[in-house]
Amino acid sequence: MDVVIRNANLADGRSGVDIAIAQGRIAAIAPALAVTAGREIDACGDLVSAPFVDAHFHMDATLSYGLPRVNASGTLLEGIALWGELKPELSQQALVERALQYCDWAVARGLLAIRSHVDVCDDRLLAVEALLEVKRRVAPYLDLQLVAFPQDGLLRSPTAFANLQRAIAMGVDVVGGIPHFERTMADGAESVRLLCEFAAEQGLRVDMHCDESDDPLSRHIETLAYHSNRLGLHGRVTGSHLTSMHSMDNYYVSKLLPLIREGGVAAIANPLINITLQGRHDTYPKRRGMTRVPEMLAAGIDVAFGHDCVMDPWYSLGSGDMLEVAHMGLHVAQMTGQDAMRACYTAVTDTPARILGLDGYGVAVGCHADLVLLDAADPVEAIRLRAARRLVMRRGVIVAESPPAHASLHLPGRPGCVDFRLGR
Ligand code: FE2
Repeated sequence: MDVVIRNANLADGRSGVDIAIAQGRIAAIAPALAVTAGREIDACGDLVSAPFVDAHFHMDATLSYGLPRVNASGTLLEGIALWGELKPELSQQALVERALQYCDWAVARGLLAIRSHVDVCDDRLLAVEALLEVKRRVAPYLDLQLVAFPQDGLLRSPTAFANLQRAIAMGVDVVGGIPHFERTMADGAESVRLLCEFAAEQGLRVDMHCDESDDPLSRHIETLAYHSNRLGLHGRVTGSHLTSMHSMDNYYVSKLLPLIREGGVAAIANPLINITLQGRHDTYPKRRGMTRVPEMLAAGIDVAFGHDCVMDPWYSLGSGDMLEVAHMGLHVAQMTGQDAMRACYTAVTDTPARILGLDGYGVAVGCHADLVLLDAADPVEAIRLRAARRLVMRRGVIVAESPPAHASLHLPGRPGCVDFRLGR
């Protein structure tokens, strides 16, 4: 064996197991494995997890905070306007450098797979070229999946559909959309039909920004589920954001959720961004705006949490930490039961891996040895502490290390070191 990790806890509840790794894949998992390896790692009873996966991100905009100015109101619409001001000033080299820097942050956080939307409404397709270059360069250590995203509207922007098709021909993986930003509800529905039919013809996945609005009558998710079902796209279609569902009538939602399930459509909530952007037209009480996560999970719908933005026109914070995303999602959705908290961890690991269609993902024999050793005993503790990633491994090779978080105290009569874990 090349590597053996001893005494690990797993996210599924198994504890004290050893993980043997050979030729970049997991070769065995069992207690007290009788194997020798070139390198032994003692997990000390800490959690060894499959890597974090972010199913919803915008890498073309990331780390552009302050360019050309900051978003003064902090609203979605000013963010879109600001992005429009920035687009003509973008250079391919600067885009690549910012994206590579973000991928460094991601790897350090144990985030080894990202689905990023890339705006195709710039006729130069400069961001598409830049992110395809980034995808090629990070491939040894990070899976980057790209979505052709018509930010200014498929029908509202005159060249968007042609540009989207060009982007797909250049190697972009997934068909995107933004039906709620079209001029009318009818145009929004038509854009969903056109994009789903195009994806079906091309054999591609679909991931649309869908109903990112507080308008309870924004119901494009219904149309998306309908076309997914009609075209047999089950398991390949995702609705991102779905915030209007927060404000919808309960009776309508009771009809809608089975339709989403029937259409095989997954959902991605973006808790950090939507808790800050939604409800901006409210006085008090203010709506939270995040989509109905526990209700969709109960209906058998796959739900992942995405980061969406880090230091860009829409969001000035973030550092690529999917545990921060899960932490916010848990709070906003009031998912505080033990099973619910574990589901929040699954929403940043297994579920987005399934949405992306990642091959060989997981902690099981035969899977890629892509693993994260956390400074926490289990998924709930990992979320509580936004635990340090002691080790991040890609194909059996350590690609990042972080020291555990602890503090030295200088208090009279008290022990000198705390690490924020019970019993330590
Ligand atoms: Fe987004």
